[in-house]
Amino acid sequence: MTQTITFTVQPGGSLRGEIRVPGDKSMSHRSIMLGSLADGVTHVRGFLNAEDALATLQAFRDMGVEIEGPENGEVTIHGVGKHGLQQPSQPLYLGNSGTSMRLLSGLLSGQAFDTELTGDTSLESRPMRRVTEPLAKMGAVIEAQADGTAPLKIKGNTPLQGMHYEMPIASAQVKSCLLLAGMYAEGETSVAEPAPTRDHTERMLNGFSYPVTREDNKATIDSSGSLKACEIDVPSDISSAAFFLVGASIAENSEVTLNHVGINPTRTGVIDILRLMGADITLMNERSVGGEPVADIRVKSSQLQGIDIPEELVPLAIDEFPVLFVAAACAQGQTRLTGAKELRVKESDRIQVMADGLQALGVDAVATEDGMIINTSPIGGGVVDSHGDHRIAMAFSIAGLRASAPITIQDCENVNTSFPEFRTLATRLGLVLESQ
Ligand code: S3P
Repeated sequence: MTQTITFTVQPGGSLRGEIRVPGDKSMSHRSIMLGSLADGVTHVRGFLNAEDALATLQAFRDMGVEIEGPENGEVTIHGVGKHGLQQPSQPLYLGNSGTSMRLLSGLLSGQAFDTELTGDTSLESRPMRRVTEPLAKMGAVIEAQADGTAPLKIKGNTPLQGMHYEMPIASAQVKSCLLLAGMYAEGETSVAEPAPTRDHTERMLNGFSYPVTREDNKATIDSSGSLKACEIDVPSDISSAAFFLVGASIAENSEVTLNHVGINPTRTGVIDILRLMGADITLMNERSVGGEPVADIRVKSSQLQGIDIPEELVPLAIDEFPVLFVAAACAQGQTRLTGAKELRVKESDRIQVMADGLQALGVDAVATEDGMIINTSPIGGGVVDSHGDHRIAMAFSIAGLRASAPITIQDCENVNTSFPEFRTLATRLGLVLESQ
């Protein structure tokens, strides 16, 4: 069993300085998957050296791919080609990583060998029918648990048939899963999304010279392409930067610059929402790096205002709500989130777990079925439980900046899944955060 880590954050203070947060998690996963299936050697820079991305990396090593690194964010992948993966000798253990499991379930449905995907307790309780059902329509044979969860047993050597799929939920993981399966299916596979979701898979496939077309809300792929190795420069993860965007906004006398952050428009909902709340955020040196937009982001303290969060921004900020709820507690008036039911099936039930934690600190927060209503409140000290959810642990660390007494946050070890340097970088900016 992994060791239990408790964070204690001292109240108050400011955040000041300039940092670069680690590489984007979504792009790091995809760089390993596509680099492994490419012909030739792919070099990745800025790779996220954290448990989730390493779970994907290990899975491909287990399928016979030679991968060097990560060392200082650099990874070298000796691609085996689209049909070069080998059967792993045991189930692929994917830890806490939903992205690994959902994307791999599509990719592995198209292989010539059987596989089994497992994960930790959180991952093995997350919904997988959203991928197994459409994959079954394409002809995939996947055995799940009675309630649709992992472990997933994927039968190899099963011909896949392309199809058009209208996704009932806005999910980049489902879209990516089906596009990866579509690389092995007969005919065209197209996926339409009810609202825009992150498009890193489509962009990176194009970067590997694999054709994917986009028309309105629909992405289309077929099996005729092949992947050519390339150079990938992974920008910093806006989802990790988000903790400091909120932290520097809510703490007095703060000014933080976050360098080289990915600002793909399918990911910048957190900036839009904070700006609607009155945050002082400036994008500098906007540029394009390997097909993805990047900027340095400066954020200064400001008095935030409560808002009704526009529902169309929800998928574009889906991972940032834990820390946005902390911003809402510090914002004048009321903030209301609706249309965010998906938060209930993330690494934890992020609506319930955040509402419970905020209430424990004296915040007027009410969970609703698909969101939360938060009224401006002084934040007190106390003990909160992150339920093993990395983003909850980091969100409550940031809440310390406006708390009146220390906050103890339990079950923080999974911060290592996405942002192992969080405590070091937060401390460098001025947060007084201890780990035990
Ligand atoms: C991700 C998509 C999102 C997000 C997750 C990463 C991805 O999940 O929450 O952290 O890399 O495609 P959903 O597709 O379930 O919304």
